[in-house]
Amino acid sequence: MIAVDKSAQSFLYQQVVELIVQQVENGTLRPGDRLPSLRRLSNKLEVSIPTVRQAYLELERHGRIEARPKSGYFVQAKRINPLVRTQCKSCKPVEVRCRNLIDRVYSSIHQPGMLPLGIANPSLASPATKTLHRAMKRIMARAEARSLTYAPFYGEPGLCRQIAYRYLNQGGSVDPNEVLITNGGQEALTLALKSVAQPGDVIAVESPAYYGMLELIESLDMLALEIETCAVEGIELKQLERALKSHRIAACLFSSAINNPLGCLSSDEYRRELVELLERYQVPLIEDDVYGELFFEGPRPRPAQFFSRKGLVLTAGSFSKTVAPGYRIGWLLPGSYGEEARKLKRALSCSSGLLQQLTLADFMASHDYDRHLNRLRPILRQNAERMVACVEKYFPAQTAISRPRGGSVLWLELPPEISSEPLFEAAREQCISIVPGGIFSAENRYQNFVRLSFGHPWSEEIEHGIETLGRMVQQQLQKAA
Ligand SMILES: Cc1ncc(COP(=O)(O)O)c(C=O)c1O
Repeated sequence: MIAVDKSAQSFLYQQVVELIVQQVENGTLRPGDRLPSLRRLSNKLEVSIPTVRQAYLELERHGRIEARPKSGYFVQAKRINPLVRTQCKSCKPVEVRCRNLIDRVYSSIHQPGMLPLGIANPSLASPATKTLHRAMKRIMARAEARSLTYAPFYGEPGLCRQIAYRYLNQGGSVDPNEVLITNGGQEALTLALKSVAQPGDVIAVESPAYYGMLELIESLDMLALEIETCAVEGIELKQLERALKSHRIAACLFSSAINNPLGCLSSDEYRRELVELLERYQVPLIEDDVYGELFFEGPRPRPAQFFSRKGLVLTAGSFSKTVAPGYRIGWLLPGSYGEEARKLKRALSCSSGLLQQLTLADFMASHDYDRHLNRLRPILRQNAERMVACVEKYFPAQTAISRPRGGSVLWLELPPEISSEPLFEAAREQCISIVPGGIFSAENRYQNFVRLSFGHPWSEEIEHGIETLGRMVQQQLQKAA
């Protein structure tokens, strides 16, 4: 079949436009797919490069495709109902009581045979298994018995140096002796919070906030104060300033660059303003930067710590989201709280796994880490596009969808009649795990929200799972009418 007919009345570029639209509509090209390069398509269709360029510009103007710098042209999902605001009108500290729901969610997330739309494990979208195993074998051959001993309390120097070197490449100067290696990002957050605050203190969090932070605040008998968070930029700075004036906030615990569950990515300028504001009020910022490397479009967001003048910013990082959650290796840059954080690390967990630290240091030094991240990011981005397209296809039209600019999760606002906890239970019966929105709030908000993870290799099962979920939501909606 001839794709472009030179004897036809219509312009050649319009025929190319129609061809691409047809391919999108019949499902050959899917959201997130890369279009052939200008040269390649012009060769294949036997038309000129300017003709293809004109067609692509036309498609871009109509929002069907998007140009990504240095990457090419990609099919875009038809985005309806972007989610912009979160719900957070009141502003008062509350006790956190989320453990029961977290227990139920974890038991579903980790149940074998579940479709894993609940767990946020982005490295599974493109695992680094082989290269990582090779690095570990090299270490075991080289380090022999040493790899089985205790690591230095505060971290293996080779890994601390690699982490500091990476920050240098992002324009920040970090002393390797300041890097404190932890058991995952969660321990980094624990050490940070215990270093700056006491039981009974008020901790400001985003709304919605990652439930691991809320559980941590609950376990340390602290109070949470939710601050409205814009689904595009992050924390609403005006609301934060009002809260700083009216409450004694001991610390802020924010995912300052890429937020879980919103997937928003704030600008460096915004983070600079945030740090200036908090340092003016002498309030420490604990920034959770575990998703910082998983931005969809460069450059990497710079950690808020780079903008600190008073040492009040503590940065938590981790290899869990990028490489291997099972290694349980993260780190803390403790700002001016180094002494306290080090004492706590020694008292709470002595040190972290040496073999894993040596392996990760080797993995970074050999540039395998960068190669792996360069492969992982576009896969996650494509998965995000595909999941948005599926939700738009199968969920009620009133559904609002976040526009993740990094990370591995999608945040959905369902119609107000829908309650996400019964939906979570019903989905579990169908062997689909999702995370109900209520778990992301200390104040019972987000009852009609859910979080879906796109951090797994895309598959027909995932598409069917989203179709099934969409049907369940439609059924709940009909019952409520
Ligand atoms: C936002 C956020 N912070 C911290 C963590 C904890 O990371 P780790 O597995 O390294 O302890 C997670 C894990 O899901 C997370 O999503």
